Amino acid sequence: MEEMKDKICLITGANSGIGKVTARELAKRGAHVIMLCRNEEKAEKAKEDILKVCGHDRVDIVLADMASTRQIREAAVYINQHYPRIDILNNNAGLIMGNKRKTTEDGFEMTFGVNHLAPFLLTHLLMDQLKASPQGSILNVSSEAHRYAKLDFQNVQYEKGYGGLKAYCLSKLCNILFTRELSKRLRGSHIVTNALHPGAVASNFGRDASSLFGVVIQLSKPFMISEKEGAETSIYLATSKEANKANGLYFKNKKPIQPSKAALSDHNAKRLWEISEELLQIHFDPQVKVSVQKV
Ligand SMILES: NC(=O)c1ccc[n+]([C@@H]2O[C@H](COP(=O)([O-])OP(=O)(O)OC[C@H]3O[C@@H](n4cnc5c(N)ncnc54)[C@H](OP(=O)(O)O)[C@@H]3O)[C@@H](O)[C@H]2O)c1
Repeated sequence: MEEMKDKICLITGANSGIGKVTARELAKRGAHVIMLCRNEEKAEKAKEDILKVCGHDRVDIVLADMASTRQIREAAVYINQHYPRIDILNNNAGLIMGNKRKTTEDGFEMTFGVNHLAPFLLTHLLMDQLKASPQGSILNVSSEAHRYAKLDFQNVQYEKGYGGLKAYCLSKLCNILFTRELSKRLRGSHIVTNALHPGAVASNFGRDASSLFGVVIQLSKPFMISEKEGAETSIYLATSKEANKANGLYFKNKKPIQPSKAALSDHNAKRLWEISEELLQIHFDPQVKVSVQKV
């Protein structure tokens, strides 16, 4: 299978679960895969597994902890210097935390920081690389959990009333709002962006969540779909010509479905964009050239 041989695909959180299967399957179809991971040892082990089955050696690791804007910036500088373009950016890395509120290196609530602000910043910094592709595609891994989110723009980082599950649901709503607003701002370009729900997947997800949710996830594993099945919608969106015509949509089981009312609100999407720009101290205009610098 060589259908992806001219594509360069960057996948965050590619060392385990859905991200690893996505990386492996795209590599097997001939893609040059960049695995953006935070843990070198885990990333090397995953890369070894992928190399055994993909039939070429174009599988690279770039290290960055998505809980650090400094590391995201450094990774983006490296990627901009070492690759001619990015054809597919799969914002897949994500976590759910326990019920003790934690913050990132930059002081952002951890779930909001890693699951929303990190892909927002990374996408901004890689925009010129995506524009260099004849047909760029940005895939954001969201979740049906977004339907349970309570969006309060005064409290997006849960300074008040924090709970691990609440923060997770909100971050997954943010993934869809980001996708919709980005698709609008990219109109007229050759880049498309879509969000997706992978299914309830028996991955490592939630293993560190000491909350009740973490326990529920562990107990539910026998009833969940495999990581391979969980990666199917990501792979479909990355490979199918038909999917490349979709823009700003939310997919489940390889089909676009209607997300929640809050996710469809243009006001929410615009406001979230502005808040994210303010917090990250960036101006993210996808139509404008980005100067990627270390801080
Ligand atoms: N599993 C499900 O049922 C389910 C359902 C809906 C949506 N999702 C979404 O699917 C995506 C992938 O999850 P999964 O099920 O494959 O879980 P997973 O096996 O736990 O994989 C998550 C990946 O994200 C990485 N990651 C987490 N925090 C990071 C950070 N600060 N910096 C860099 N990488 C980080 C992890 O790295 P480490 O290995 O180093 O921790 C891992 O590679 C997530 O966005 C999740 O929200 C999952």
